[in-house]
Amino acid sequence: MGKLLAVALVGIAAALAAERLLAFRYQTDLSRTCAAENRNRLNASREVAPVTLPNCRLIKGIETGSEDIDILPNGLAFISSGLKYPGIKSPAPDKPGEIFLMDLNEDNPRAVELRISRGFDLASFNPHGISTYVDKDDNVYLFVVNHPHQKSTVELFKFVEDDNSLVHLKTIRHDLLTSVNDVVAMGPDSFYATNDHYFCDFILMFLEMFLGLNWSNVVYYSPKEVKEVAAGFYSANGINISPDRRYIYVADAFDHNVHVMEKHANWNLTHVKTLQLDTLVDNLSIDPHTGDIWIGCHPNGMKLFYSDPENLPASEVLRIQNILSEEPTVTRVYTDNGSVLQGSSVASVYEGKLLIGTVFHRALYCEL
Ligand SMILES: *[C@@H]1O[C@H](CO)[C@@H](O)[C@H](O)[C@H]1NC(C)=O
Ligand SMILES: *[C@@H]1O[C@H](CO)[C@@H](O)[C@H](O)[C@H]1NC(C)=O
Ligand SMILES: *[C@@H]1O[C@H](CO)[C@@H](O)[C@H](O)[C@H]1NC(C)=O
Ligand SMILES: *[C@@H]1O[C@H](CO)[C@@H](O)[C@H](O)[C@H]1NC(C)=O
Ligand SMILES: *[C@@H]1O[C@H](CO)[C@@H](O)[C@H](O)[C@H]1NC(C)=O
Repeated sequence: MGKLLAVALVGIAAALAAERLLAFRYQTDLSRTCAAENRNRLNASREVAPVTLPNCRLIKGIETGSEDIDILPNGLAFISSGLKYPGIKSPAPDKPGEIFLMDLNEDNPRAVELRISRGFDLASFNPHGISTYVDKDDNVYLFVVNHPHQKSTVELFKFVEDDNSLVHLKTIRHDLLTSVNDVVAMGPDSFYATNDHYFCDFILMFLEMFLGLNWSNVVYYSPKEVKEVAAGFYSANGINISPDRRYIYVADAFDHNVHVMEKHANWNLTHVKTLQLDTLVDNLSIDPHTGDIWIGCHPNGMKLFYSDPENLPASEVLRIQNILSEEPTVTRVYTDNGSVLQGSSVASVYEGKLLIGTVFHRALYCEL
């Protein structure tokens, strides 16, 4: 961002802040409601009673996060690790990010780090959301949201199973991909992406959050066309698609809900319904057989920013069944106060096995 533009934006933000303050001073009923709503939105401090699962173990070798997980139909799980996110203390700030692979068909699956081809700038690799795409010839493509030097790009890799490597194909940048959090692949070079904030600058981003602006959006990207397809989110985070490929699900972390959007032939999205929850919803993953949505959540997400060993961020996994029905079933499958797993960001299932990932901590493997 140019300095001049940055200054102009600070000005606009300051003006908006001033307007908010004035609104508070001349408190009308409306502004009182808005302020209360914003407080609720940022209230991410619920304490959790433990819900345990019997057969779980921490995954060896994953110590610095497992922010996003995507599992192929054949049971190969990709795990992104080493995210450095503004305001959240990284356990290994100088270590480049990594992508791990786990074969969930094995009796005792291990995580193996994938080698990344030469020519890709590994030193600044800062992987965030990921998504896989398998073409009709069984080629596997991996889309990885990357934040090199706190910018946003989407990296496209081809997975080579013979030698557990990722060949870098291209770096995608676009003016509409400003603050990308997650992607869901629609083709070998197209995807939907969530921008979790309007601003990519750290200070402006926090101001945006503080003011409770709903400026976060969803963008469709293909080499031919790039467009905003949904807007008005407080912080659009995880995104995924229903098994019949008709609906797109978007998690709005700060608004504590999941939006169901219908996908149209021209890639536009229209709103179908919103399911309200009482936790910060992070990444969404879909059970390909049942269509259930599995969500990694932050019941007390503010603690992610504390880095206080006495006050650890909790983990929570929700399963949503029949989201399109009148009465979706929401089950709290797992919760932990941080003593085992801190800051769960994703939960993904394959054939009775569950992987739970975290923003900067470890990863849990469970047999259900
Ligand atoms: C925050 O949310 C929790 C549960 O959703 C509620 O019990 C608590 O009172 C809320 N705190 C504030 C300050 O609104
Ligand atoms: C976004 O916020 C504005 C102002 O508070 C409000 O008028 C608008 O309805 C909101 N949009 C959505 C989609 O919630
Ligand atoms: C997963 O969780 C992290 C942690 O908050 C979040 O920042 C990220 O956007 C999420 N990734 C996806 C794929 O939604
Ligand atoms: C849908 O997409 C078309 C073509 O890409 C665009 O011109 C139009 O404004 C969109 N409509 C809505 C309602 O978003
Ligand atoms: C967290 O939970 C564990 C096990 O349920 C319990 O032993 C521990 O005291 C709890 N810690 C805090 C800080 O509540």
